Order: sequence, then structure tokens, then C-alpha cells
Amino acid sequence: MKLFDVYPLNNIAITSAKGSYVWDADGIQYLDMYGGHAVISIGHTHPHWVKRIEDQLEKIAFYSNSVIIPIQQELALKLGKLSGKEDYQLFLCNSGAEANENALKLASFYNGRKKIIAFKKSFHGRTSLAVAATDNPSIVAPVNETDNIIFLPFNDEAALKDCFAEQGKEISSVIIEGIQGVGGINIANASFLQLIRQLCDENGAVYIADSVQCGYGRSGQFFAHDHAGVTADIYTMAKGMGNGFPVAGILIAPHIQPKHGMLGTTFGGNQLACAAALAVLEVIEEENLLNNAKENGEYLINKLKAIAILKNVRGRGLMIGFDVPEDLKDLKKKLLFDFKIFTGEAKPTVIRLLPSLAITRKQIDDFLEALEEAIEELSEESVKQKAESEKQMEK
Ligand SMILES: Cc1ncc(COP(=O)(O)O)c(C=O)c1O
Repeated sequence: MKLFDVYPLNNIAITSAKGSYVWDADGIQYLDMYGGHAVISIGHTHPHWVKRIEDQLEKIAFYSNSVIIPIQQELALKLGKLSGKEDYQLFLCNSGAEANENALKLASFYNGRKKIIAFKKSFHGRTSLAVAATDNPSIVAPVNETDNIIFLPFNDEAALKDCFAEQGKEISSVIIEGIQGVGGINIANASFLQLIRQLCDENGAVYIADSVQCGYGRSGQFFAHDHAGVTADIYTMAKGMGNGFPVAGILIAPHIQPKHGMLGTTFGGNQLACAAALAVLEVIEEENLLNNAKENGEYLINKLKAIAILKNVRGRGLMIGFDVPEDLKDLKKKLLFDFKIFTGEAKPTVIRLLPSLAITRKQIDDFLEALEEAIEELSEESVKQKAESEKQMEK
């Protein structure tokens, strides 16, 4: 049987990992500035994470949500404490899309409405409602198409006000990433998030903070929405939550009441996933990783801003993006194949950096040195190519 070919693959097989490094099948070391797509929060194969999963595996990996699972409660307590949302309720599931799907559905159960406001360049996942609320028609199948989603321009306060003025009482929820990830690292303005909060309150709509990528400390605060001083009604979480172990969840404000059967999942909240998620929170607390993300993120952003050829350096904490000029369009590839560094991208020419929150200053400096060399080499190559094509034209 062959694999269903949906991913454009780099011809590299990663077979082991530690901290911010990964190794391929030939033993070649790579610096991971991509965090396996923002998933690696505390560092690959962190010893505490490995031990907690191993210990749990010896006891029990899974039993269904038909019985009390004490480690779920333990996780909820710790998550409440670290996120500052102690009065919220936790529902556990398995992926970012599932978290958003549940959040959107729960909002609709809560207020009995159908319309959802989402934003241009958003990405919320690939399940039916999550993908319908994602601004990328090429991944929306005909069966996912719905008139219930209203796409508005990101950070456009006037458009948001107009929409609520016209249809406010039909809006079930507003879903927004605090920092858009797949869309190219676009930060939601504090005043925009505050306006969403205000309009949701005035109209009985639910504010959903998609924190799948920008949450869990990546921005230097637990949730990227915290920078704006607003609280959402529902926070969705996934990527960094398990440091690579599949686990996701939603935090639900106290005014949204549960009903038996309203949401459900077979695998969500299993003992093994909870052990992985608890290990992540313990390490985040023990190693002060929010502070590391904040300080090392500021350092990296400032250094990147000093590289003149990189445009529009932006981000918060360790969620950083910059635009590269056409001449450097192969920068990501060059970093990977010539300098052995993984980075992320957003089409067409944005490089995204999403390293582990535990990345060190030395690793950041190594990255910066490689980046400058890669830029220099590509610039020289492009000058040569231009000269050659001019020669050809003269002939
Ligand atoms: C902001 C955001 N929401 C949702 C998702 C979907 O998460 P998953 O791939 O775990 O379903 C992603 C994935 O990249 C994301 O970046």
C-alpha cells in the first residue's frame, strides 16, 4: 500500500530529536527553528515529558470517558493556574481542528444562532466548520460550503462594527487567532480584540480565541489574546499542548453551561495524553518558558530587524515572521539543505520561525549567523544570474 500523497515532502527522514535539534537517518543534525510546525513547546524528547509518558504507559494508556479519569482533573487544575483561567471549564479532544469545531458548535448550542464571523487569511483547521471558517477556498470541499460564515478583513474595526450593526443578533460567534499563523504571522491589534469583546457582549455572541498555534506560551504570554487585556469566552488549544503528543482542548468560560451529550470524543482526554500535557505544563512552569519565549523572542526580532534586506519583521515571543525579497525566494530551501536549519513559511515569501520555547540564546545566534551567510550566498548567486542573463540578451 502506498501513502495518500497529500504533502509536498522534503526528502529528509527525521529519526531522532533532542531539545531544539533533530537528526536524520544519516545522523545529520538540524536546528529546528520550525518546532515541527509550532508543536514543540518544551523541546524535543524532554526527559521529564518522556518519563511521565513512560510512567503512565506502565499504568494505563486509555480508558473511555465513561469513567472518572483523575488525571484529567489534575490537568485542568494545572492549566487553570498557569493560564490564569481558574474559573473556566476544560473539554479535552485530539487536534486543533477538533478544538475549533467543538468551540464553534458549543457557541451555537449556547446562543441558538448560526452565523460565524471569521477573518481574511485565517486558518482554523480541516474539519467541516473549521475549514468553512478558514480563508482558503482550495481546501474547502463542496460539502463544507455554507452561508453561515462571514469573512471580514483582519483588524478592520469599521467592517466589524458594520457587520454587527446589520446582523448582530444573528451572530453566534467570532473566531480569531491572536496572531495569524498560516496566514503569515499577522498580529491582531489590541483595539480590534477589545472591540470584538465589546460587540460580542453587546450582541450575545461568543468570542472564540483560536490559540491552537499562538497559545500555550508561544507569544510570551499564555494566550496571545492576553496581550490585549481581553478574555475570550472560549480558548482553543492544541499544538504546543502535548509537545508532539496528540492532545487538544477548549477552555470554556463559566457562563457557558454543559449538558450531558453536548460534546464528546472517544480518545480525547485519555490518560496518556493527559500525562503528556501535564508534563508540558510542569516544564513550562519549572523552566520559566513563557519568560524565555518573551526575552529570546524580543532578542531574535531585534536582531532580524537589523538585517536590512528582511522586510516587515514581526511577531511576538517565539512566533515570528518576515518577508523576503524575490531574489531570496529560495532562502528557506537553502537554510534547510545547505545550513541544516528547519524554518517555516507562508506563501508566497514569508519565513516563519516557531522554535521550541526552550531555545537557547546560543542556538538563536547560530541561526542568525547561518541566516546572514545564506542571504549573502543567495544575493551573490542572484547577481551572477542577472549578469549572465544580461550577457545572453546582448548576444
Ligand atoms: C490557528 C490554527 N488553528 C487550527 C489549526 C488546526 O490544527 P490541527 O492541524 O491540529 O487540526 C491550526 C493548524 O495549523 C492552526 O494553525
